[in-house]
Amino acid sequence: MVGVGVIPEFRGIKFQHNLPGIEERKISELLIIFTLRKLFENGVDSVIACARVPAKYKKPDMGISDYCQFRRENGELYDPVLRFHERLGAKIVKLVAYAMEDFESMNAGCWVKYDQSL
Ligand SMILES: CC(C)(COP(=O)(O)OP(=O)(O)OC[C@H]1O[C@@H](n2cnc3c(N)ncnc32)[C@H](O)[C@@H]1OP(=O)(O)O)[C@@H](O)C(=O)NCCC(=O)NCCS
Repeated sequence: MVGVGVIPEFRGIKFQHNLPGIEERKISELLIIFTLRKLFENGVDSVIACARVPAKYKKPDMGISDYCQFRRENGELYDPVLRFHERLGAKIVKLVAYAMEDFESMNAGCWVKYDQSL
């Protein structure tokens, strides 16, 4: 099992790095890009991850299926983690009613899928 996490004081900060072909990126994005690159180089076609949905508790009455597709007025996904994955090229695939004990996500999650073609 693999999880991505960045301690709060380093979130949102861009870093220089030595990965070829990629400009300066946030450390969270580099973690995903580096992991996907290694997997795809080794023959994996697609990767499905169960994402947290940490703003779900702000919409307690919305069904998790609707919540995973819910977008802000500017078209971006409402949930910050789903938004993060979509920005990196993931497709929002499927809700998960119970993912793990997680107050913010109200125990739910959402499958996101990265394809090698991206
Ligand atoms: C998910 C995570 C790796 C993203 O890293 P990051 O450096 O914050 O990446 P971003 O800056 O692109 O954040 C994505 C969005 O989440 C928002 N965000 C970050 N931390 C947040 C928080 N604690 N609460 C609410 N929103 C948050 C950011 O403002 C950003 O919003 P934007 O799309 O409007 O710019 C990081 O927030 C994290 O480690 N979270 C805790 C662990 C976790 O939930 N991991 C995800 C497992 S699927």
